[in-house]
Amino acid sequence: MKIIFCFLLLAVFAQAKDVSEETVQYYLKLLQDFMINSTKYEYPTDNRRFFQLINEEAEPIYHGHYDFIIVGAGAGGSVLTNRLTKTGKFKVLVIEAGGREDDFTDVPGFAAFLARSDFNWGYKTIPQKKCCLGFKNKQCNYPRGRAVGGSTVINFMMYVRGNKKDFEKWGSENPGWDYKSVLPYFKKSENSSLRQEDSGYHGHYGPLSVEDCRHYPDATRMFLEAAEQRGRKILDYNGKDQYGYSTLQIMTKEGTRYSASKAFVESTTGRKNLELLDHALGTKILIKNREAYGVEFIRNGKKFKATASKEVIISGGSINSPQILMLSGIGPKEHLEELGIPVVQKLPVGNTLRDHQVYPALIFSTNISPSNETSIEEQIRLYLQGSGVLTSAAGITGLGFESPKLKSKNPHFEVPFASLVLEQATQLYLDLLEMTEENWQALSNNLSGKYVWMAMPFLLHPKSKGTIKLKTKDPLDFPILDSNLYSDENGDDMKEMLAVIEDVFEMSKTPAFQKIDSKYLSDPLPACKNYKHLSSDYWRCAVEQATYPILHAVSTCAMGPKDDENAVVDNKLKVHGIDRLRVVDASVIPFSLAGHPTAVVYMIAEKAADLIRKQYKDL
Ligand SMILES: Cc1cc2nc3c(=O)[nH]c(=O)nc-3n(C[C@H](O)[C@H](O)[C@H](O)COP(=O)(O)OP(=O)(O)OC[C@H]3O[C@@H](n4cnc5c(N)ncnc54)[C@H](O)[C@@H]3O)c2cc1C
Ligand SMILES: *[C@@H]1O[C@H](CO)[C@@H](O)[C@H](O)[C@H]1NC(C)=O
Ligand SMILES: *[C@@H]1O[C@H](CO)[C@@H](O)[C@H](O)[C@H]1NC(C)=O
Ligand SMILES: *[C@@H]1O[C@H](CO)[C@@H](O)[C@H](O)[C@H]1NC(C)=O
Ligand SMILES: *[C@@H]1O[C@H](CO)[C@@H](O)[C@H](O)[C@H]1NC(C)=O
Repeated sequence: MKIIFCFLLLAVFAQAKDVSEETVQYYLKLLQDFMINSTKYEYPTDNRRFFQLINEEAEPIYHGHYDFIIVGAGAGGSVLTNRLTKTGKFKVLVIEAGGREDDFTDVPGFAAFLARSDFNWGYKTIPQKKCCLGFKNKQCNYPRGRAVGGSTVINFMMYVRGNKKDFEKWGSENPGWDYKSVLPYFKKSENSSLRQEDSGYHGHYGPLSVEDCRHYPDATRMFLEAAEQRGRKILDYNGKDQYGYSTLQIMTKEGTRYSASKAFVESTTGRKNLELLDHALGTKILIKNREAYGVEFIRNGKKFKATASKEVIISGGSINSPQILMLSGIGPKEHLEELGIPVVQKLPVGNTLRDHQVYPALIFSTNISPSNETSIEEQIRLYLQGSGVLTSAAGITGLGFESPKLKSKNPHFEVPFASLVLEQATQLYLDLLEMTEENWQALSNNLSGKYVWMAMPFLLHPKSKGTIKLKTKDPLDFPILDSNLYSDENGDDMKEMLAVIEDVFEMSKTPAFQKIDSKYLSDPLPACKNYKHLSSDYWRCAVEQATYPILHAVSTCAMGPKDDENAVVDNKLKVHGIDRLRVVDASVIPFSLAGHPTAVVYMIAEKAADLIRKQYKDL
């Protein structure tokens, strides 16, 4: 009798998902504490806040011998951590600079807050010439996750793989990376539960949860209706065809962030052949006779050294992987010589930084009542039940792919769609993007207290490119980031962005968006006041003010054949000219894809794990 009663009670709880007041108060307290921390937060300008040597002269302490050493447990490193330690054949050391995620990072709706926290490395670009002019010091803020799970602990969780055509191009130069070859690896990671999914394109047995964004406000319905009114298809953009619109496929589980750590690292707890060191900074790859044999790292103020009998794998991400390669003597000859680093292998490391450029400042008012959305307690309660605005990042719930005036199978731009009460967007603009107060004032003045929607269109295949360079040969210094958007010679990127903005205005005029009385009410950005408001000269100015690199850095250690002068790794992810050294992360993606990098990095690392396990007879 007692047992039956308990069972009934459990069933009732499972159904209603009762949220106790205590739990709500716990999250509220987390948020308040975080806000207090955030106001005191100052961006670091180097790595010394977390890593300092007590004795600079001391010889490295020998830490041990392994089969593989992985530097970085982000999206790529987490997959490898899991897959390479599965059978127990290999002994693996993982070195990760950050710590562990927590209940706060788990809330998708707090994503934009995390820029001002120790979960972010804290990079910024150098002052820019044609983008980010309306942000603090003309710099683009460039968050990167520092945690087990890497940037997937702070990112926006959008699951977008890229276009078939992208992979055909990738595979045409790099055997094994065409669409047919990579699709099984996308599916391998994935456990999707989507309302609309093309059969054959999704995985249901992998560790990574992918679901439809749980937040589905009326505005999202309008977005999809508007797309249909313009003759666009509603489709599974990770399926057969990408050209169309959809609700967001997001890497959450019942509305909670599903990071690389959750998907790939948690289940490795207790594996005796794995040692994961957090709060450890890899500083140098040890190379002898053109062969990698270990790494040096800093932890708890001391310098250590570990050796690897099989391989060293660098998974530090698109900013840090080129940094550690260059610190180890692998990079552009002149640049290394200039800094007094002995050149081990001349390669174009960091010469090409590709990104997606986004114009995030198209905000439209609506007549939707802000109702009770603004009560944070209610938002938290809904989150704990797996719904509401906090299950989305910055209110992003949908997206579409377009190519203005061009009939192309490979779309030219993507439009993420967000809707929220204006005040809920301040963290995104002020804390993450670091837009100046006066620009934010101009954008938002006439919108305060209103329920708004935002289109954040970005170019998928821009021509301009930036660079990553070293500041000094000291691993505690940050590298130098230069996004350099709109630097292409013919100004094609600017022309395309202007067309993209026009397209968003067309979208706002559809019956669906007119039904909610959509209006663009922003004042001119102060720097562009002298141009006729909303004229093409105005937009050219505004675009330079508010274009931002969307944080999809790729290509800094690009994949390509040996004779490709831009290539750093080959199609097996091995660094050209150096044995027993691979790079497995977003930096190897050879060019900007019509997708977001996380899904692609998971695919790359799944494939890398198979290549490695085959080579060393674990498969
Ligand atoms: C705010 C934000 C929003 C984003 N939104 C999305 C999105 O919605 N969808 C999407 O697909 N992508 C998004 N991205 C990008 C995406 O998160 C990254 O492209 C992806 O995580 C890259 O994977 P990675 O393995 O290359 O690097 P990361 O995931 O960044 O991992 C690198 C890891 O290496 C560690 N590391 C680096 N150097 C060292 C060292 N020297 N020693 C020890 N450890 C080191 C880092 O701490 C980190 O844990 C976003 C990024 C940000 C910052
Ligand atoms: C705020 O900062 C303190 C001290 O650094 C830290 O212990 C605490 O975890 C932080 N709180 C949140 C919610 O980030
Ligand atoms: C996939 O997700 C569903 C729904 O969350 C869950 O029931 C199932 O156990 C998951 N499968 C795996 C292999 O994790
Ligand atoms: C919020 O609004 C919803 C529907 O509009 C309503 O069901 C709910 O009771 C409201 N909550 C509060 C706290 O007012
Ligand atoms: C926005 O508000 C300003 C006052 O700050 C006003 O002058 C302007 O006309 C308003 N713009 C629109 C489009 O309503």
